[in-house]
Amino acid sequence: MLHSLNETDLFYPVTLGSLHLANRIAMAPLTRSRVGENGVPTVLHATYYAQRASAGLLISEATNISPQARGYGFTPGIWSEDQVVGWQQVTDAVHAAGGKIVCQLWHVGRFSHVSLLPGGQAPVAPSAVRAQGETFTATGFEEVSMPRALHTDEIPGLLGEYRLAARAAKRAGFDGVEVHSANSYLLDQFIRDSVNQRVDQYGGSVENRTRLTLEVVAAVVEEWQDSGRVGIRLSPTTPDAGNTPPDSDVMGTYGYLIQALNTFNLAYLHMVEGKTGGSRELPAGIDLGVLRRQFAGPYIANNGYTLEMAL
Ligand SMILES: Cc1cc2nc3c(=O)[nH]c(=O)nc-3n(C[C@H](O)[C@H](O)[C@H](O)COP(=O)(O)O)c2cc1C
Repeated sequence: MLHSLNETDLFYPVTLGSLHLANRIAMAPLTRSRVGENGVPTVLHATYYAQRASAGLLISEATNISPQARGYGFTPGIWSEDQVVGWQQVTDAVHAAGGKIVCQLWHVGRFSHVSLLPGGQAPVAPSAVRAQGETFTATGFEEVSMPRALHTDEIPGLLGEYRLAARAAKRAGFDGVEVHSANSYLLDQFIRDSVNQRVDQYGGSVENRTRLTLEVVAAVVEEWQDSGRVGIRLSPTTPDAGNTPPDSDVMGTYGYLIQALNTFNLAYLHMVEGKTGGSRELPAGIDLGVLRRQFAGPYIANNGYTLEMAL
């Protein structure tokens, strides 16, 4: 029987896939830009995350999967052994405080600046379509650089980078990983027909534009050998980063993607509802409730939630 909800309901334990959480409050992933050039978390990070470990689930700040994935200065990575050791002190501290933490796996795609990338290379993207906006570099804010389109034969290498990062996150002691397919970064850039102009098997049809996200999820699940420790973040309508227009068919495209994700039995779908960190208003014809109901597993809601909305 349903009873009327009250504040304490948020403090009931919940299980998301293989993640047994003490309560229903998750901390959103928050970039802090507190690491050095090597992308290695320090004792400062261990303290910061342990202080917040009473949330049922901590989602780490977005963490670069490779040197080429980086789009902001002072953000952490999860590809080198030093980074693994740095994260180990974080996960140990969170676990000692009774919490759980997943690593948000990040590739910014076109939203980067040449000074942040190895050898001053251009950022990589589905297509050579420039983002708008500035990003934070070692010397301050800079306009993001013109990207180049990834070649089809570079995609297996990219998937390999996701695999390495997923394995590294496991070694670092994370309880799971969250595939960052939100906020108009690389995977979301492939999904949206507003910026994906490809003519290979990663562009054109909905099946093609969602292929990279699904291949990344499959690769990460294979590395973890437990889909119940893999979640995904989506944000179908946010323009950030880069003032990226939404897909021309949000309901059809993300509906297809979400139903395809059901085959993995993931820990959760984490949805940013509206403009990330801004208005929850949605363009006409878009109903995130419909997308939510298309997902067969647990749902983490985000964006401007009040206590009443959370209940
Ligand atoms: C300072 C800051 C850093 C953020 N960093 C990330 C990030 O690393 N990854 C991500 O997916 N979203 C990031 N976001 C978006 C938040 O996760 C969240 O979607 C947004 O703050 C809206 O949720 P809220 O209303 O609970 O604050 C960031 C937001 C802020 C304000």
